[in-house]
Amino acid sequence: MTAVRVRKAVIPAAGLGTRFLPATKATPKEMLPIVDKPGIQYVVEEAVAAGITDILIITGRSKRTIEDHFDRSLELEASLEKAGRHEQAKEMRLLAEMADIHFVRQHQPRGLGHAVGMARKHVGDEPFVVMLPDDLMAEESTLLTDMLASYDRTGSSVVALKRFGAPEIGSYGVVLPEGPVRDDGLVRVVDMVEKPNPAEAPSDLAIMGRYLLTPGIFDCIARLTPGAGGELQLTDAMRKLLKSEAFYGLPFETGRYDTGNKLDWLRATVEIALRHPVLGEDFQQILDQITGRTAM
Ligand code: G1P
Repeated sequence: MTAVRVRKAVIPAAGLGTRFLPATKATPKEMLPIVDKPGIQYVVEEAVAAGITDILIITGRSKRTIEDHFDRSLELEASLEKAGRHEQAKEMRLLAEMADIHFVRQHQPRGLGHAVGMARKHVGDEPFVVMLPDDLMAEESTLLTDMLASYDRTGSSVVALKRFGAPEIGSYGVVLPEGPVRDDGLVRVVDMVEKPNPAEAPSDLAIMGRYLLTPGIFDCIARLTPGAGGELQLTDAMRKLLKSEAFYGLPFETGRYDTGNKLDWLRATVEIALRHPVLGEDFQQILDQITGRTAM
């Protein structure tokens, strides 16, 4: 089956980032750096690498620096050029040109389902991808490309899944799969619940922040009533969608960081710094010194 090509990605970035205070008091959590780039830049680059260049970012109050980051800065470029730093000037220009980035503001934080609903006008009647910027994928991850390939085969929605035990499983949307993982790597999803009590979770498969959704999700979002935490939950909208359309999950194991969590942000920072083409070697030496010191 050849389905419609997926051209658009939606990145909800309106959350308050309360898990990362005080850093996020006046700085959007999506702008916290991981080595030398803000987290949201990695997510945009991941979309572009998978061939998606139309990106809608849902922002909110005090998120203006995200818009500035993906805009041209002619003054900065001119000053870099003047200083002979041509490569860096080019890098700054390409950053603003790598994708068509659009913004819409969510006026009130009413939940992920509501935030994705804000994309309806922009997305229209097409399948699209939702990428949660807290979930950072390692550069070598093929998850998004694999999800696009799955959509090409099935023409159906698919969410990324990762296995967790208690108590972590209770922090996520959790699916009820129909049977074990199939030969094509997918599970058919027959039900799901947002942030279950871990003892009542329908499985150990948690929804991670990469979704490929058919446009039918928007009618389901429009019918949402407040769910877990009193918010309009995307999981509840997907639960409605899977009653009328086939819905799949794609379990994966490695390459995901939760950068909204301080410890996992540190892990991302260290692992990505070690792989950095310029800083990696020197950073390894520093780490060896530190770990040698603590081992003594
Ligand atoms: C959101 C979703 C949840 C999903 C998680 C992935 O939760 O509501 O279903 O499992 O992202 O990171 P949040 O992290 O916003 O609480």
